[in-house]
Amino acid sequence: MSAAPLLSLHGVCKRYGAVEVLIDIDLEIRAGQVVALLGDNGAGKSTLIKVISGVTPADRGEIRWEGRPVHIRRPSDARELGIATVFQDLALCGNLDVVGNLFLGREIRRFGFLDEMEMERRTVQLLERLTRGVPELRAPVVALSSGQRQTVAIARSLLGGPRLLLLDEPTAALGLQQTTEVLDLVDELRDRGLGVLLISHNMGDVKALADRAVVLRLGRNNGFFDVNTVSQEQIISSITGATENEPRRPAHQEAAW
Ligand SMILES: Nc1ncnc2c1ncn2[C@@H]1O[C@H](COP(=O)(O)OP(=O)(O)OP(=O)(O)O)[C@@H](O)[C@H]1O
Ligand SMILES: [Mg+2]
Repeated sequence: MSAAPLLSLHGVCKRYGAVEVLIDIDLEIRAGQVVALLGDNGAGKSTLIKVISGVTPADRGEIRWEGRPVHIRRPSDARELGIATVFQDLALCGNLDVVGNLFLGREIRRFGFLDEMEMERRTVQLLERLTRGVPELRAPVVALSSGQRQTVAIARSLLGGPRLLLLDEPTAALGLQQTTEVLDLVDELRDRGLGVLLISHNMGDVKALADRAVVLRLGRNNGFFDVNTVSQEQIISSITGATENEPRRPAHQEAAW
């Protein structure tokens, strides 16, 4: 098999008080691969993304980055490894324009003043590289469509040149056209060699885009699938619990993947 995965989790656990939200989770994401993270509401998907992005660190288990054990205790740990996240709520500032949102917290300065020209130049450069343009860089983000806002949020996450992108339901609020645009963008990022972990409830999106699917059920692994060979029905029964898949560790499945 090729080089070590970009990211692998082994036996990751997370509890909130008495509630075990993630139990013994295994996961692997390789460079140039889109992994769909699936599961019913409350299955633990967003929590897992928060663990990987350092927002709520794991209680137990091992996380490896390119085969090397690492500790992700806070968001800066994840960022330094090259992990970027677009959370379910996007966390954009509606009253700021596109440039302002992209550089919020990492403004470029020149002689102590904000270098608006340089920030705008880089924004144009970045959004051009992402197939879809956002028409008005100086419009407040609240005036953009949901698809454009999603693009801005993804663009912002790409600023630091990440190698792994975590997307929590990026198409949930989007129409057909906008969904296609965001999925095209993810496709392009994979072509550029990024690893992507994509949470989605949309089976069509998953079949169209993902290479592999990982299903969580009640906080546990309930299936690892090669999207090219699995049927939609198999994935769905794994999500609903009609099939209780013996959670197999990714390493045992490598030949099949
Ligand atoms: N901060 C918290 N404190 C206590 N319990 C929490 C907290 N965050 C999440 N949970 C619980 O953990 C479980 C998993 O939540 P999580 O948000 O990860 O699910 P999800 O798979 O992302 O669901 P959805 O598809 O609805 O977004 C839920 O039962 C939820 O109530
Ligand atoms: Mg969620």
